[in-house]
Amino acid sequence: MQPTCWFWALVAVCAADQFRDQAQRIMQNTPVIDGHNDLPWQLLKQFKNQLRAPGADLHSLETTHTNIPKLKAGFVGGQFWSAYVPCDTQNKDAVKRTLEQIDVIQRMCGMYPDTFACVTDSAGIREAFRKGKVASLVGVEGGHSLDSSLGVLRALYSLGMRYLTLTHSCNTPWADNWLVDTGDDAAQSGGLSHFGKSVLREMNRLGVIVDLAHVSLATMQAALELSTAPVIFSHSSAFSLCAHHRNVPDNVLRLVKEKRGLVMVNFYNDYVSCQREANLSQVADHLDHIKNVAGAGAVGFGGDFDGVTRLPVGLEDVSKYPDLIAELLRRQWTEAEVQGALSENLIRVFSDVEKASNHSQPPEEETIALEQLEPGCRTNYGYSAAPHIPRPTGVLLASLLALLLSLCLL
Ligand SMILES: *[C@@H]1O[C@H](CO)[C@@H](O)[C@H](O)[C@H]1NC(C)=O
Ligand SMILES: *[C@@H]1O[C@H](CO)[C@@H](O)[C@H](O)[C@H]1NC(C)=O
Ligand SMILES: [Zn+2]
Repeated sequence: MQPTCWFWALVAVCAADQFRDQAQRIMQNTPVIDGHNDLPWQLLKQFKNQLRAPGADLHSLETTHTNIPKLKAGFVGGQFWSAYVPCDTQNKDAVKRTLEQIDVIQRMCGMYPDTFACVTDSAGIREAFRKGKVASLVGVEGGHSLDSSLGVLRALYSLGMRYLTLTHSCNTPWADNWLVDTGDDAAQSGGLSHFGKSVLREMNRLGVIVDLAHVSLATMQAALELSTAPVIFSHSSAFSLCAHHRNVPDNVLRLVKEKRGLVMVNFYNDYVSCQREANLSQVADHLDHIKNVAGAGAVGFGGDFDGVTRLPVGLEDVSKYPDLIAELLRRQWTEAEVQGALSENLIRVFSDVEKASNHSQPPEEETIALEQLEPGCRTNYGYSAAPHIPRPTGVLLASLLALLLSLCLL
């Protein structure tokens, strides 16, 4: 009997379902840990961080890529929630706003204890997996959140920060961002300045994962050379498939491999296809490429959900992860490779970072030179040999007037 057309069509449909089923079966034991999600920023923008505001219920929220039913459907078992504050807070209220974003993440865990477990170490992630909760961790996005202070770095660590993205899309006084590579910003630190290297050493000592998403090529190279622990890109894709400077070039992918680090692929259309449109299959191309160049141990997911405006067809929200896993299985990734990309790679990197940390070592005590900071709204306590800080012109004029007035009166 000759198999007919409809028979083969059925086989094709069944095969497609087979990969989807296999993906779900794998994800039941090995859920996805995503490297970057901006839900906390949406909570600020849409609800002023008021979790009990009407409409903010995470069971029914529909104005975001992320809510509780979608996380469950997507088999999301771990999430680095982004404590992001924009670059225009630099030299202003960056530290305060960062504290508020960490606070809203912690309140989210407290308000939905059946869904989220706020954890701070790799053992905590595994425990949350066992309990079927979303292991929730804090990633601080942008070195400007430190206000150039190792004291602030340590305080943020105490509050649960477990990765720090060295820059967002602006230079800090000690690290250069990716816009240096497009020519839009001037190089300032040549990668990492002397103080920037102290920041990195202190992150290694504490056990804060170094995140190189958003940094310049020179910063990537400096950090990869100096770090005693593996580093990650929490939400970046492959430069050779889309030549955007937010993505990771092949020579850096090879350094990441040497360092046993991780690149968590960003789904933003503009970084996937370098166009306004993209699809799931193109995201799989990035995963394939990173696997080919850096090895399956260097692949992860950092969707950037709720931080971007355009997402690929097939990856519209956090519920779609199993479809992406099915596509990788269809491309003949082994179960072990898929499990690595889902969560084992991140857990390996995180525990290596923990092992490289050493809280018995004395904390770094370097301070940044005062002249490297904007004087605008800063005092100079702690700078005994402080250089003269020019006073604002208004004050100068007033003093001149007062001087003239007093001369006239004489
Ligand atoms: C995804 O987009 C690419 C480029 O436009 C196209 O060649 C490919 O057929 C698309 N794949 C699917 C499954 O739609
Ligand atoms: C941690 O640092 C202390 C103090 O510098 C040192 O004695 C110890 O050997 C270090 N431990 C490891 C595991 O490197
Ligand atoms: Zn980002």
